[in-house]
Amino acid sequence: MIPWTLLGTANIPNNGGELELTQRDKEFSIHLKGVRGELMNSRVHCSELALANLGCAHIQGIENTKVLVGGLGMGFTLSAALNATSKNSQVVVAELVPEVIEWNKGPLGDCAGHPLNDLRATVHLGDVAELFTAKQATYDAVLLDVDNGPEGFTHADNNNLYSSKSLQAIRQTLRPNGVLAIWSAWHDPKFTTLLKKSRYKVQTQTVRAHKGKGSRHTIYLAQKS
Ligand SMILES: C[S@@+](CC[C@H](N)C(=O)[O-])C[C@H]1O[C@@H](n2cnc3c(N)ncnc32)[C@H](O)[C@@H]1O
Repeated sequence: MIPWTLLGTANIPNNGGELELTQRDKEFSIHLKGVRGELMNSRVHCSELALANLGCAHIQGIENTKVLVGGLGMGFTLSAALNATSKNSQVVVAELVPEVIEWNKGPLGDCAGHPLNDLRATVHLGDVAELFTAKQATYDAVLLDVDNGPEGFTHADNNNLYSSKSLQAIRQTLRPNGVLAIWSAWHDPKFTTLLKKSRYKVQTQTVRAHKGKGSRHTIYLAQKS
């Protein structure tokens, strides 16, 4: 068995813990140090691709679109968003942890084909929520995968990204018919209701973590109505 090699560590802002990047042959893992477990493994990324493919389906073949990806991780969603949009479209990726961006410029970038090298991709270093304060119709799709799911909705101590106020701010940054797509490890019908109350048309899709097998994840697809 090939042993894991530690490639780097990073502190998550606001005392969020310490991230570790490890590699074993062609497999990479990003995990929280200690007992809190794995955030991402490069072998399992089908639902990260589905987030972009489903969230950008309405702009397939359309020129000059703009997409925001929240959370770079291993770059799979960013890569799929670039593949799903036209050659003159732009994709902004917001990432909280500077080292994650640096890791993607190195060997970790091999996982998703180095999407940061695509001239259509730009990086916002910081909290994705900062991009929702402008309240101007900017994006055709906002693809969020920054958490395990919309926990902020049920747990007050989590960030406010999934609150009613935030969902309405995101709605204002969407262009007409724009879609907010959110990756979640579980399905919560109450979150669907909250999205509807925030004036989105909502669908959910169940997707498998690994080529038709593995864990079932939920993609919330909320279209500006
Ligand atoms: C599960 S990973 C994303 C995986 C990504 N979809 C992919 O395809 O590899 C979550 C990422 O979001 C970042 N993140 C967490 N909270 C964030 C925030 N509020 N704003 C921007 N990035 C955030 C984390 O540092 C991590 O890189």
